[in-house]
Formats: sequence, structure tokens, C-alpha cells
Amino acid sequence: MDIRERIIVALDFPNMDTALECAGRLNGSAKYVKVGMQLYYAAGPKIIEVLKKEGFKIFLDLKVHDIPNTAKGAMQSLGELGVDMVNVHAAGGLAMMQAAFEGLNKGAARSGVSPLLIAVTQLTSTTKEMMNGELGIEGSIEDCVVRYARLAKEAGLSGVVASPLEVQAIKEACGKEFITVTPGIRPLGSDIGDQKRMTTPDQAFTLGSDYIVIGRPITGAQDPHTAMEEIVRSVNHE
Ligand code: C5P
Repeated sequence: MDIRERIIVALDFPNMDTALECAGRLNGSAKYVKVGMQLYYAAGPKIIEVLKKEGFKIFLDLKVHDIPNTAKGAMQSLGELGVDMVNVHAAGGLAMMQAAFEGLNKGAARSGVSPLLIAVTQLTSTTKEMMNGELGIEGSIEDCVVRYARLAKEAGLSGVVASPLEVQAIKEACGKEFITVTPGIRPLGSDIGDQKRMTTPDQAFTLGSDYIVIGRPITGAQDPHTAMEEIVRSVNHE
């Protein structure tokens, strides 16, 4: 697969205009974008329609987490939008993930596009101290991530969102075909922001990530197009 189809740019913007301005600057360079809660809650399904028309593949990152019946309904609605990837929180449990998958397939049957359904394991801003002390989950982050990944696989999902540092353990537990989507990416020399479990783009692919998600180092750059091209070059070892 073209490396540009494996680099997902997070369009974390407050409204349609700012998001489309950045997408316009990235057109021709980035091929896959991520629409998250901030943008989708502000701009609604219209933003998906416009980005699709511009030719972008779309990961709609709404991290659904609710009772199974509600998750199913939510996913049915999202399945009708014709996006390429959607997600739920694995912490919602097996029944919720199964219901979400069922709902998504129903919606996708109407749009004709079958998105990948993946599960969020532990957010890449979570540390072991937070997970143990605040969330009450014992053990290492990796233990929890692998447990959630197995559960997602059992529910029929295609993969998980995790840190690149956990990819190897996930692939060992769930197989090579089980997809890993990894945020927490910082090119050398960039600001780490609130991310905690990070690697560079090149390290993430070397560790086996299928897709990397990268936001502020591209969208916050003075010239997002150049920032994206530098990342492409850094992973192609040109
Ligand atoms: O700007 P930055 O590169 O940190 O953006 C990372 C993106 O990936 C954000 O949109 C964030 O919501 C998302 N994400 C994450 N960690 C996860 C799941 C999603 O950082 N586990």
C-alpha cells in the first residue's frame, strides 16, 4: 500500500472552514484524514461529504462507548456515511463491540462502503500510574492493551488503536492481519504536547504499525504540506 495511505492526518479543528483550509493545503500530499469529536460535533456529516468529494479517505474517530443497543444505533448511523474507518472503546466490553459491529454492517449495507471497525485500547495520553491509580486497572499498560485487543478480535473487529510501543505484543496475541492504528507520533524535534507513549513515524512503521495517526506536528506547522512531505521522506528513507 502507498505509504501516504498509511499516514492519517488528524484534522482536529474547531469548525468546517479551518479544517477545509488545512485539508486544501494538504491535498495532493495527504490521502487519509481523521475527523474527530471536535470537528464532527461542530460541522456534522457535511464535513464528511465535502472531504470525500475532495478525494480523501476518512477515519471518523468518535470513540463510541455506550450500552450495546445505543452503540449499535450509533454505528448504524455512521455506517451510512461512507467513511473508511470508525471506532469504539474496547472498555465498553464484548457485547457492546459485537452490537457496534452489527449496527455498522447494517449501515454500511445502505452506503455500499464497508468501513474498518477498530477499538481504542488505552489512550496514548494514559500512563501506568493513571491507569492503576485513577482507573483502578491493575498491571502494565501492555497487559491491558493486549487483553482489550483479544476482546476486540473476539467481537469480530478488524483491529485496534494503540501506541506503536504495543504493536508487537498485539500482533503476537492477535495475529499479523489484525490491524494496528497508532497515534502518539512525534517527528524528531517536535513538541510532544499531551502525548505520553510516543515514537517517531519511522519507528512506528518499523515496529509494525499498519497506520499512523499524526495531528499537530502537521496541522500546526507553518506549512502543513512541507511537514507531511518531510514525514513521508523520513519513512521512505530517501
Ligand atoms: O496532535 P496529535 O498528533 O497528538 O493527535 C493525535 C490524534 O490521535 C488526536 O486526534 C487524538 O484524539 C487521537 N488519538 C490519540 N490516542 C488514542 C486514540 C486517538 O491520540 N489512543
